[in-house]
Amino acid sequence: MIMNYGHFARDGQEYVITDPATPRHWYNYLWNDHYVSFTSQVGYGEGFAQDDLGRRAMLVINRMLYLIDTADNSSWTANALPVNQGYRNYRCTHGIGYTEIALEYAGIVSALRLFVPRADSAEVWSLQLTNTRSSACELKAIAYVKTAMDTFYRPQGYDLGGADFDPELQAVVSRNFVKFGSDTSRLMHGYLMSAEPVSAYDGRNDAFIGPYGHDLRPVALEQGGCRNSNCISEKICFALEQTVTLAPGETRELHFVAGVARDRPEIAGIRRRLLSHGGVAAEFESTRDKLAADIAGFSIETPDEGLNNLFNGFLKHQTSLGSRWARVRHNGFRDTNCDCECLGLFNPELAWERAKRIIAYQYSNGYAPRTFLDGKIIDHDYIDNTVWITFNVYHLLKERGELSMLEEIVPYNDGSESTVYEHLRRSVDFLWKERGELGLVKIWGGDWNDCFKWIGPKRKGMSVWLSIAWYLANKQFAEIARLTGRNEDAGIAEARGAEMRRIVNEVAWDGGHYLIAITDDGEKLGTMANEEGKIHLIAQAWAVLAGIGTDGKAEKAMDSVDRLMNTDLGCLMSWPAYTRQYLNIGDVSEKLPGVHENGGVYLHACTWKLAADCLLKRNERVQEDLEKLLPANFKWGEKHCEPYIMCNSYFPKEAGYRYATPGQSWRTGTGAWFLKAIAYYIFGIQPDMEGLRLNPCLPSAWRTCSIRKRFRGADYVIRYEQVDLGGCNRIRAIMVNGKPHGGEVLPWAPNGRFEVKVILGKHAT
Ligand code: GLC
Repeated sequence: MIMNYGHFARDGQEYVITDPATPRHWYNYLWNDHYVSFTSQVGYGEGFAQDDLGRRAMLVINRMLYLIDTADNSSWTANALPVNQGYRNYRCTHGIGYTEIALEYAGIVSALRLFVPRADSAEVWSLQLTNTRSSACELKAIAYVKTAMDTFYRPQGYDLGGADFDPELQAVVSRNFVKFGSDTSRLMHGYLMSAEPVSAYDGRNDAFIGPYGHDLRPVALEQGGCRNSNCISEKICFALEQTVTLAPGETRELHFVAGVARDRPEIAGIRRRLLSHGGVAAEFESTRDKLAADIAGFSIETPDEGLNNLFNGFLKHQTSLGSRWARVRHNGFRDTNCDCECLGLFNPELAWERAKRIIAYQYSNGYAPRTFLDGKIIDHDYIDNTVWITFNVYHLLKERGELSMLEEIVPYNDGSESTVYEHLRRSVDFLWKERGELGLVKIWGGDWNDCFKWIGPKRKGMSVWLSIAWYLANKQFAEIARLTGRNEDAGIAEARGAEMRRIVNEVAWDGGHYLIAITDDGEKLGTMANEEGKIHLIAQAWAVLAGIGTDGKAEKAMDSVDRLMNTDLGCLMSWPAYTRQYLNIGDVSEKLPGVHENGGVYLHACTWKLAADCLLKRNERVQEDLEKLLPANFKWGEKHCEPYIMCNSYFPKEAGYRYATPGQSWRTGTGAWFLKAIAYYIFGIQPDMEGLRLNPCLPSAWRTCSIRKRFRGADYVIRYEQVDLGGCNRIRAIMVNGKPHGGEVLPWAPNGRFEVKVILGKHAT
């Protein structure tokens, strides 16, 4: 049975889940620059604050909103847990920046809405209660935060946490030792605060949940409410109880704020600002407006309703999450750069601010770390991270068209600084100098594939994919050098590029496709001569993206991909999957066959295939790639994942019972690059210094479609028409504001409005 458990609403700005028992938790992410939280359709999830060095204050480990009817002490939750309790009219609305869970139980209608305000390290919970009974009722509503603000209390540990109730703030406030922010001499406080005076509270987890209790069944519920417990050197919690009497038909609204703050005056400030009359409503509106504006710069209209909904809402929002928080569990360097680049397609100003923040983590020798977390820069020896800087800057430059971006000063992670241009120069130079015996770039502890850890620990092994990626970055760098009159640098880069092109095509070609790597001991990986892992998708797709193939090799490589790796769920990452541990390859061979990078349908890589098929103008393939990637498109078989957001992978047949189920959602580069594949490669909107260049390749079944894009202050509406379907994808004519237009670069003027019509046919005219 085809199950979407709900539907899109408001043109993709919301997904409404109508059955709480989805196959697994279906999440929404809510965040600002300082705080990120996620919540599923039953309120489950975490929330934490982060400082500039990635130190974290783990405020929320789970959240619950319990309801007790004082007449008979019966209880339920506004979360809809347990899911089988017989709630009526359940509806979870995941929106851009908020989630609301609504339900009815025993004649009481509840709506619990969560959002993260624009700037505070906090999340706001609003609970609306309506009595639909014919008689009055008295309810207790208890907000509960399971927390790690006691720095992860461990049983039998040396625990130092504490929490107590502050009557002025109407908040349970924790005292603890989280090191955070620039002034680490001060304690950080977690708190849960109520707008209205509370009737009881708890700060001690054992009092509220009980030493043998559980989030779903705290002892406090059996005992009729909170115990008024403070906490000394035990596991803390935050729980606040409100007693509410409701006449028949009456509605009341309660507000709680869970947050992290330096001191009590700061909490008092938040109380005055957010919890004063109308404060929450005003902040909610402003947050929603801001987030809508952040993603307004590009929208699409195609014959595929599911794609329109996904692209015009959550796909852009997911890209924005990645550009600030990639990948949430840590702060990935390549990941953030990659997502900033894609954010540039619809919000280049915001992308540029975020890009400079992440580029500042590069080392001054050109190398870049894998991530930063908990106050530390973490290398892991993945050598590719630095290559992503150039892609990021190049594309943001093309979007914004301001060469002055390259002269802006950005620090390195050791305190020195240089122009952005110099960051790029050191990046391409570093990788060029880190080449192995055959002239390919070395792989060290891994490249984009995090699980290639043991190919090059002796620093001899080489990465074919990274050599190809470097070729592209270096080509972009050469262009930038020419644009800024640095002709000597450009000349060097162009000569190096030609050399790398020759090397890749000579030493990394296997006859039908490109290898993926060469080990420390000179063993070739990704060749038909290997027993397993004979072919890897990313080297082939990137050969097309980078334009590195000579004599039709890249086209041939993509033919091999289609012949060997195509499945109903999408293209495999590698084929066949490794079935045993290879000590000269890496932990990819420790993953079960079909799991993620080990021959799974790894969707980030599939977006590169989609882009490559566009460049090769294979529009029947484009149609198929797209259908397989879309989470709610079941043409090739049902998928069991969130229909409104991209996940990192679908598990193929090899993965047994996990078939067609996803890996993690939201925290993946798939979303950002899927967006790019659609905007830049399918619609072919490819900004250049002189204007928007068109190079589309529409899916074979689309007759008409259109996009709207804001570009350097001008607005474009571009309508496409394929005049004869099937294998037709060349531009035959372009009309701008009703007049024929020569060339593929659209005109531009400040504040201009351009109505563009693009006719596509079998042959260019
Ligand atoms: C994960 C990581 C990403 C990496 C990929 C392949 O998605 O977030 O950075 O490149 O896996 O290993």
